[in-house]
Amino acid sequence: MGILYLCGAGNSEGVRLARNVVRDTGSAARLVLLDDDPAKHGSEVLGVRVEGPFALLAGADPRNDRVVNFVARTTPKRWAARLRIAAHGVPFASLVDCSIDVFGAELPQDVIVYRNATVGPLVTLGEGSVVFMGGIVGHGSALGPGCIVGPNAVVNARVRAGEGVYLGANATVLPDVKIGSWATIAAGSLVVRDVPEGATVMGVPGRVVMTFGVRMQLGEFKALPLPYRTRLEGQARRSSLTHATIG
Ligand SMILES: CC(C)(COP(=O)(O)OP(=O)(O)OC[C@H]1O[C@@H](n2cnc3c(N)ncnc32)[C@H](O)[C@@H]1OP(=O)(O)O)[C@@H](O)C(=O)NCCC(=O)NCCS
Repeated sequence: MGILYLCGAGNSEGVRLARNVVRDTGSAARLVLLDDDPAKHGSEVLGVRVEGPFALLAGADPRNDRVVNFVARTTPKRWAARLRIAAHGVPFASLVDCSIDVFGAELPQDVIVYRNATVGPLVTLGEGSVVFMGGIVGHGSALGPGCIVGPNAVVNARVRAGEGVYLGANATVLPDVKIGSWATIAAGSLVVRDVPEGATVMGVPGRVVMTFGVRMQLGEFKALPLPYRTRLEGQARRSSLTHATIG
């Protein structure tokens, strides 16, 4: 039993989840918080000390220690943090609130599921994904890597989402809808039809208010390292061809 490193001190809900899971499962001897903001070093969140930057993972023991990524402000920032963490070779742990029934769902060894969330049967979650408090992923849905399901967001049955999709709090996605990679669904929106890659959708019913290309120009993806951005720029160019047809 080793140390569970928690990356991202701004997420006190995450620290509470980690404390509860470790208490209920005995899966770690100690919790250590890491954050790349020097102003936070030495402070405590719910009794867990921020010991330094992510780079301290260089001193971790990959055989016994585990790490979780609590960065969740946007999916590009989350994925960029994941790449920085992964570079140290410490395996990621899953943190799933112990009260949650995940029987029949397929969860990789790197997801976070908060209390009161629902992960339906035959659901698959991609590595690095998060389902926040009260979020629902309906039966048969499949989310790609690095997706965030915000508090009380509802992903109905058989929804397909690509990588890096962000669903804000209380967003609802109707059954069988397909959501392209890196799309953002604004808080409280209702998604009634397929969403193109990288689009921001807002409102009830949801409309595309921003395209992948525009979001790219505004710098929303600049946190990602160059090879990723180059790939996404290619995707954005291709997907912009279809935007004119989306309501
Ligand atoms: C979609 C979102 C990412 C856009 O953020 P942003 O680019 O910073 O947008 P802004 O705040 O500048 O708002 C732009 C416009 O959209 C409107 N708007 C923002 N969010 C909205 C929403 N959820 N529904 C309807 N309108 C919204 C704003 O009022 C503003 O309108 P205006 O131009 O007429 O003044 C953000 O609004 C959002 O919904 N985030 C989700 C937050 C959340 O649920 N977090 C959960 C914690 S895990």
